[in-house]
Amino acid sequence: MTSRHTDMRPAVRHAGEPSAFLAAYPGYELTRGLDRLRRTEFAYLDEQDHLYLDFAGSGLAATAQHRAHQERVSGVLPGGPSTTAAAVDHARRAVLRHLNASPQEYSVVFTANATAAARLVGERYPFTRHSRLVLTSDNHQSVTALRGFAKAAHTETTVISTQRPDLRVSTSTVIAALGRKRPDRKRGLFAFPAQSGFTGVQHALGWIDIARDRGYDVLLDAAAYLPTNTLDLSMVHPDFVTVSWYKLFGYPTGVGCLVIRREALARLTAAPLEEGVDLHSVPDVEVGLSLLADNGIELTSRRVRYLTGWFLDRLTGLRHGNGAPMARVYGPTTTLARGGTVSFNLLDPEGGVVDLRTVADEAAAAGISLHTGKFGNPGAGANAAELCPRSLRALLKQGTRHVGEPVDVAGLPSDGAIRVSFGAPSTVRDVERFVAFVERHFEDRFVEGGFSGELL
Ligand SMILES: Cc1ncc(COP(=O)(O)O)c(C=O)c1O
Repeated sequence: MTSRHTDMRPAVRHAGEPSAFLAAYPGYELTRGLDRLRRTEFAYLDEQDHLYLDFAGSGLAATAQHRAHQERVSGVLPGGPSTTAAAVDHARRAVLRHLNASPQEYSVVFTANATAAARLVGERYPFTRHSRLVLTSDNHQSVTALRGFAKAAHTETTVISTQRPDLRVSTSTVIAALGRKRPDRKRGLFAFPAQSGFTGVQHALGWIDIARDRGYDVLLDAAAYLPTNTLDLSMVHPDFVTVSWYKLFGYPTGVGCLVIRREALARLTAAPLEEGVDLHSVPDVEVGLSLLADNGIELTSRRVRYLTGWFLDRLTGLRHGNGAPMARVYGPTTTLARGGTVSFNLLDPEGGVVDLRTVADEAAAAGISLHTGKFGNPGAGANAAELCPRSLRALLKQGTRHVGEPVDVAGLPSDGAIRVSFGAPSTVRDVERFVAFVERHFEDRFVEGGFSGELL
């Protein structure tokens, strides 16, 4: 007979998980399946006592991906495509399925990474002196590089600045930058990241229709968005989508792709070629995609949102003994319309910025992977410099206009920020371990060595 006490057992306790977190984010319980994944496919993290917080830099490969690769190259897997070309075509179809894209509407060109995908567009886009390039200022440098191609064709470039404090862009600012409706004629190219690799801000995908309606082709940089979100190309119809597969699942490292609307493909000056990509590793993309589907992108998205929320709560709550905040976050401090990437600086008790090299060195010694610097995102510093009056004048001379306040500088120190980012294998214990590291190393510690933390 079952004891009536059985029903009164305490809920399963998970060591190291703060009850305040579980109370604030009860939905975390629904993502427990990912704890199992951490114990199995990503066991190597805990075996090596490694804290990985750089999912925006690169995803991590599951053990099963390496196993599948070994089996494939040793010919163990029966029934697969018989030639490399057939296997690449198979992978192309898997990519289209993953994005819910119709093969009649879209095609896929494999590249070495998202940067190479953006370059394919830049080199072949029919920029003219009558067309325009419109960009948000938080684009990755792979996309801001389009300015060079535009400039060579005397195309005017407009950069839409992000606004403090959240470093977002309002839809009305985008509409103002794009100009009047001209569906009858192609006006140029509008490019923005679905998610910023610096602040984690997720921009409105509704901008795609708005821009296309006004006669623009749209390049959507999905490199930072896709690892923890679904992009449905039957709902939105960007002309170009840039992707790096290693950011989703860590392996293979040298494969990305450009997804192109066939209609836009016809407008390019030359067909994009699959160059500089190891086609033999392309079939491994399919393995990664099916693991992603097995884990459940929705589940991953949820877990990352809760962890990011908790991390922001913890980080913004950290105080020195004198009550001064220990961190300054760049971008939104809530989970609304943002992904799992948080950029910040650590501050000393007098508000001085802790040198990034100190943070990087001490984190590495503590077995923590994170990123420091500007993350290839000019908006995260170098581009902030272009908003200073002298650089702004120089840009105006080059035919670049700015829309929005030309002082949307994040208030970032000259050498950049610390970036922590989460993925499917992340747990709340990871957040707690990192916060404990920050407290242990930086609470009540004064900036030494003359680094001024000079703000731009
Ligand atoms: C938003 C965004 N776009 C593009 C890239 C470029 O990706 P890759 O270095 O793989 O070309 C990155 C890399 O961090 C990114 O965060």
